[in-house]
Amino acid sequence: MNKKLTFLGIETSCDETAASIVRERENNTADVLSNVISSQIEEHKKFGGVVPELAARAHIDKIDFIIQEALDKSKTKIEDIDGIAATAGPGLIVCLTIGYNIGKSLAAFSGKPFLPINHLEGHALSPSIENKISFPYLLLLISGGHSQYLIIKGINDYEQIGTTIDDAVGEAFDKTAKILDLDYPGGPKVEKFAKLGNKNSYNLPKPIINRGGCNLSLAGLKTAVLRKSKEIDLDSDKEKYNLAASFQYTINKILVEKTKVAMKMFREKMSDQEPSKTFVVAGGVAANEIIRKDLIDLSKKMNFKPIFPSKEFCGDNAAMIAWAGIKRFKKKLLSNDIPVKSRWPLDKKAPFLKGPGLKL
Ligand code: KG4
Ligand code: ZN
Repeated sequence: MNKKLTFLGIETSCDETAASIVRERENNTADVLSNVISSQIEEHKKFGGVVPELAARAHIDKIDFIIQEALDKSKTKIEDIDGIAATAGPGLIVCLTIGYNIGKSLAAFSGKPFLPINHLEGHALSPSIENKISFPYLLLLISGGHSQYLIIKGINDYEQIGTTIDDAVGEAFDKTAKILDLDYPGGPKVEKFAKLGNKNSYNLPKPIINRGGCNLSLAGLKTAVLRKSKEIDLDSDKEKYNLAASFQYTINKILVEKTKVAMKMFREKMSDQEPSKTFVVAGGVAANEIIRKDLIDLSKKMNFKPIFPSKEFCGDNAAMIAWAGIKRFKKKLLSNDIPVKSRWPLDKKAPFLKGPGLKL
């Protein structure tokens, strides 16, 4: 029997300081021996968003304790680790540098391999921590900074078939939360309010719903929420619930329509492959139960098997980074000289769909 690999993962790309010990299992899934996440929500709350320098300082203050806690909780010593993986991008450079440098130094001192990891690859592979999933699969990655449809053909083999041309889905939730005077990060709070409101209260726009393939556009929706918020009484909880519900269900309709298109594209592009029809949703917004429900219903209709990571692996975490490290190590994808970078698309050939004058 081959030795099962154990990796330390480190994640500091934004406002979570995280470390995790992950051990691979027999059936291509993994045991997460520890998954320590220290959130900086309190630090950033009063500014309504992440302040990079504050985030970097908090990472510096905490990262060594968080790594030690991850080792202690997993009852593992650094000598027992087979490799160290740290997020190298995309993200805030001042934040990425902290986790990357400590990971690289630890690896050098302990004589272990060091693997710089793409945060998006961490999200993309996160559902396979708990589920046996075969390639290719269709991925909807919805987080605070990214919203993409990708075909995951294998490790390091990713084709982007759609992306947002302006705001990410999580960003739209966070901005709506701000308009409704809800604390950062707003996604979970908007969802809570949406469950209490009437989704048919307001008719909000669904930009590029019938064109642009499975690309998304959400900036117009956010502007419409802002406009509506000025017409209603924001001191009334009921009106806030109704606007949150209308926003949430408009997002749902957009995601359902665009996922339908993405599923058809996946089928066409993968028609020569085994007809694996797995649809995976990952990233922070994948925790949203209202979105989960509609995408599960759609998957049934379209004959896809839907898979969502557990909520602890939806938001930013280091288990997904350690897991991507193990996967890359096994594939001998060992380049350790990738520098930290703020922009790092998973599919290098994908067009950059942002900016004025864009035609879809
Ligand atoms: O993946 P993630 O933790 O960080 C990034 O890589 O961006 O995603 C964070 C995003 C935030 O925008 C947050 O508001 C959103 O995920 N989010 C949610 C929910 N939980 C987190 N959005 C909607 N509903 C939720 N339940
Ligand atoms: Zn993320």
